[in-house]
Amino acid sequence: MWKPEQRIRYQPIDGHWPDEEQAKRSAVFKAVDLGPITLDQKTWIPAMVPWRSNEEGEVTEDVIQWYERFAQGQPGAIVIEATGIRDIPSGPLLRISHDRYINGLNELVKRVKAASDNKTKVLIQIIDFLTIKRRPNRDVFLSRFLTITPDHITRLNAQGLGEGEIRQQLIELSDDHLRDVLNEREYNQLSHGYREYVTDLNLPHIAELPSVLPDLFANAASRADKAGFDGIELHYAHAYTMASFLSAKNNRTDGYGGSREQRIKLPLEVFNRVREAVSPSIAVGCRFLSDECIDSGSDLNDACYYAVEFAKAGMDFLSLSRGGKFDDAKQPKVGSAAYPYTGRSGYECMPGHISDDFGPFGRNIEPASAIRNAVKAAGYTTPIVCAGGIHNFDQAETLLIEDKADIVGMARQAMADPDWFRKVKSGNGQQVKLCEYTNYCEGLDQKHKQVTCQLWDREALDEADVRKSHDGKRRLVAPAWTQKTVKKVALKHDN
Ligand SMILES: Cc1cc2nc3c(=O)[nH]c(=O)nc-3n(C[C@H](O)[C@H](O)[C@H](O)COP(=O)(O)O)c2cc1C
Ligand code: SF4
Repeated sequence: MWKPEQRIRYQPIDGHWPDEEQAKRSAVFKAVDLGPITLDQKTWIPAMVPWRSNEEGEVTEDVIQWYERFAQGQPGAIVIEATGIRDIPSGPLLRISHDRYINGLNELVKRVKAASDNKTKVLIQIIDFLTIKRRPNRDVFLSRFLTITPDHITRLNAQGLGEGEIRQQLIELSDDHLRDVLNEREYNQLSHGYREYVTDLNLPHIAELPSVLPDLFANAASRADKAGFDGIELHYAHAYTMASFLSAKNNRTDGYGGSREQRIKLPLEVFNRVREAVSPSIAVGCRFLSDECIDSGSDLNDACYYAVEFAKAGMDFLSLSRGGKFDDAKQPKVGSAAYPYTGRSGYECMPGHISDDFGPFGRNIEPASAIRNAVKAAGYTTPIVCAGGIHNFDQAETLLIEDKADIVGMARQAMADPDWFRKVKSGNGQQVKLCEYTNYCEGLDQKHKQVTCQLWDREALDEADVRKSHDGKRRLVAPAWTQKTVKKVALKHDN
C-alpha cells in the first residue's frame, strides 16, 4: 500500500456531537431532493464491494444481511456495490446482466428498505470493466505468450534465428536489457499482467465499445428499475471503462477520445440511453473523479467541465471520488492481478491514517466545492455528493453549511459503525465507533476476501445466528446496537 513520504500518523477526531435537538435542526439531517426522489437526510453510503455474492453473481443471503445492517442505521441513501452489466463470469461480483437477476435484486431492495423502516433510499452502482490478467511468470511469458515481432528481431540483432532461439535469448536477458527490447506495453504486460485499454482500437470488441455500451448500461438500468431501486449510479470513476473514456489519456481516434468534448461523448450517450430506459420516478446520476491523480491524467478542470455537461444533460446527482487507477498501481506478485488502490492515486481514493501534512480527512472537499461552484455558475442545482475521510458530525455539518457539497458520503465510517446516522440523530454521537482509516478492510478487498471491519469482526463470535467468513474467524456484519433511552422520571416530593 502506497503511503505519503511524510508518514504522519493521524487519528479520527470526535469533535462535537449534537444533542437530539441540535441534530434535528442541523443541515445533515434535513431532507434533500435528488431529481425525482427525496432523501430523508443528507447522508449517503457510497458503493463498497464486500465480496458477498457467489460465482454466479447472485444476491445471496450474505449480500442481503450486509446491506440490511447498513439500513438499520437509516442513512439517507445506500448505493449497492459496483454491479456488472455484462453476462460474463466475474467471480463473486454482483451482476445485473440478465433478467434472471431481477428477482434476487428485488428481494434485496425489499429487505433493505424494510430494515430501514422505509427511511433509506436504495440505489445501485452499475459498472463495465475491461479484461485484466494476472502477472505472468517471466519465463512462461517470454517462451509462450509474447508475440515475436520484427522489432524484437532488430533490437536483438537476431536476423536469421528461429523463433525458439529468439525466445531463449529473451529469457537470458537481464530485466534492464529486456526493457530495451520490449515495447512499453509488452514490458507492462510482463511486469504487471496484461490489461486492455479503451484505446486498443485494433481489438474489435474495444473499437465497438461506443456502439455496445449504451445498450448494455440501459438494459441493466431497466432491470434495476424492475427490481425496485430508487436510483442508478453510473460508475464513471476509478480504473474502469467509462472513467477511461473520460481520462485525458484517452486518445481514441474514432471521435470518442482526444478532446474533452469527445471523451465525454460516450458517457453522455450512455446516460441518455439509460434515462430513456427507466421510468421518470428513478434518479439517475454518476460517480466520477474530481481528479485522476496520475501523471497526464484528467484533473480538476476536466472534472468541472464534465460536471457541468452532466448537469446540463439532466443527471439527478453527481457523486465524486478521486484517484483509484491502474496506471500507478504497485507491481503485483506473479500470479496476482494489479489492484488499482496501491499507488498514489489509490491513496487519494481511500486515504489511510499514515499521511502527509494535509492528512487523510476531507481530501476531496475543496475539489468538490470547486466542481459544485462550476455547476452552480452554469445555472444548475444538481446535488453533489462528496466522500473521503469524513467521519464526525462537525466535518459533515461544516461541509454542508459552507456550501461545499450537498450530500455527505461516508464509506468506511459507515462500515466501521453502520449506526452512525441513527446514533448522531438521536443525540448519541458519543457512542459512535470512529473509523481508524487503517485500511484493513481494503486489504481484504484486495484479496477478494469477504470485507469486514477490524473494529467489530471478532466481537461476540459465539452470539446465536452469527454468520461468519469462509474461514470461520470473522463475523460478517457488525453486532446490533440497541438504543438505550433514559427515561426522565419526575421526582415526587412529599412536601
Ligand atoms: C472495501 C471497499 C470497497 C469499495 N468498493 C467501491 C465500489 O464498488 N465502487 C466505488 O465507486 N467505490 C468503492 N469504494 C470506494 C468508496 O466508495 C469511497 O469512495 C472511499 O472508501 C473513500 O471514502 P471513505 O473515506 O468515506 O471511505 C470502495 C471502498 C472500500 C473500502
Ligand atoms: S477496517 Fe474498519 S476501522 Fe479500518 S479502515 Fe476499514 S472501516 Fe475503518
